[in-house]
Amino acid sequence: MKNILGFDIGGTKCAVLLGRVSGQNVDFLGRSFFWTKDTSGADDAISVMLEEAEAILQNNGLTHKDIDAAGISCGGPLDSKRGVILSPPNLPGWDRIPIAERIESHFGAPVRIQNDANAGALAEWRFGAAQNANNAIFITFGTGCGAGLILDGRLYSGTNDMAGECGHIRLSAVGPVGYGKAGSMEGFCSGGGIAQLAGMVAREHLQSGRSTAYCESLDSIEHIDVKKVAEAARKGDAAACKTFRLAGEYLGRGLSILVDCLNPEVIVLGGIFGRCHDLLVPPMEAVLKDEALERALSVCRIVPAQLGEAIGDYAAIAASGISDA
Ligand code: BGC
Ligand code: NA
Repeated sequence: MKNILGFDIGGTKCAVLLGRVSGQNVDFLGRSFFWTKDTSGADDAISVMLEEAEAILQNNGLTHKDIDAAGISCGGPLDSKRGVILSPPNLPGWDRIPIAERIESHFGAPVRIQNDANAGALAEWRFGAAQNANNAIFITFGTGCGAGLILDGRLYSGTNDMAGECGHIRLSAVGPVGYGKAGSMEGFCSGGGIAQLAGMVAREHLQSGRSTAYCESLDSIEHIDVKKVAEAARKGDAAACKTFRLAGEYLGRGLSILVDCLNPEVIVLGGIFGRCHDLLVPPMEAVLKDEALERALSVCRIVPAQLGEAIGDYAAIAASGISDA
């Protein structure tokens, strides 16, 4: 049994949690979160994280010496060996932040940092849908899109923590923009990407006189809520359906590349996929069937994250690298 602190750092919010891990089981003893934009930058955010962690420890009657390790899950780029966050696009102003050292010196317990997608892969591998798999890919679809790779029974993070950055692979010459690159997998398949795509398709329908009440409602909205697009698609709105058809097709194209390159036995899809899975799966499967090599595809299960909405919490715990608790 081990007490692990977890920090899940995102562009939108940061979560702090305490998990008691034994084997395949995690008891979450406490959790809190704050909005990243409510802090004045990395230093401030880290101070808030430390305060929140202290409060959780206190609520549980624990002190620093009860902490066995801590894990940090954060979008890349980062340096996992040195424990440094390297200016991720979704954390403006967070530039070369030696976060592991700061948390380690505060609690006196070992701290590790891991790319959020890698941490998600470790979490699903240990606690979720990829248990017992030798080759597994986890894909996160949040503000961004990225993959974590378990290859030959271990996490593969590449030469400098850049393995699995599939969100930046360009799938089409035109399309929604993910971090400056139009038509990338992140552009088509992340939460932000699907929202952009919804806007593009709605405008197309407006301009060609095929507008619907749904299209008009989108055109006037700055930040499109993917949930609203999904609801319209489920009611059969043509533009909303086209949005998900395109997102699903490009997801299938991206996954075909991963299936052909890496020959995984399971691909676990997190984030938005869990919520829109009914809309994305049919076009995704059709493209995979057309594009991926049959022998590779035939051994690959493609499933939503078993840890569901709690994946980020488990990912932060898994980022600590605790092997056996
Ligand atoms: C980043 C990845 C990250 C993903 C999901 C991408 O834009 O490059 O490192 O895993 O977003 O947060
Ligand atoms: Na990764």
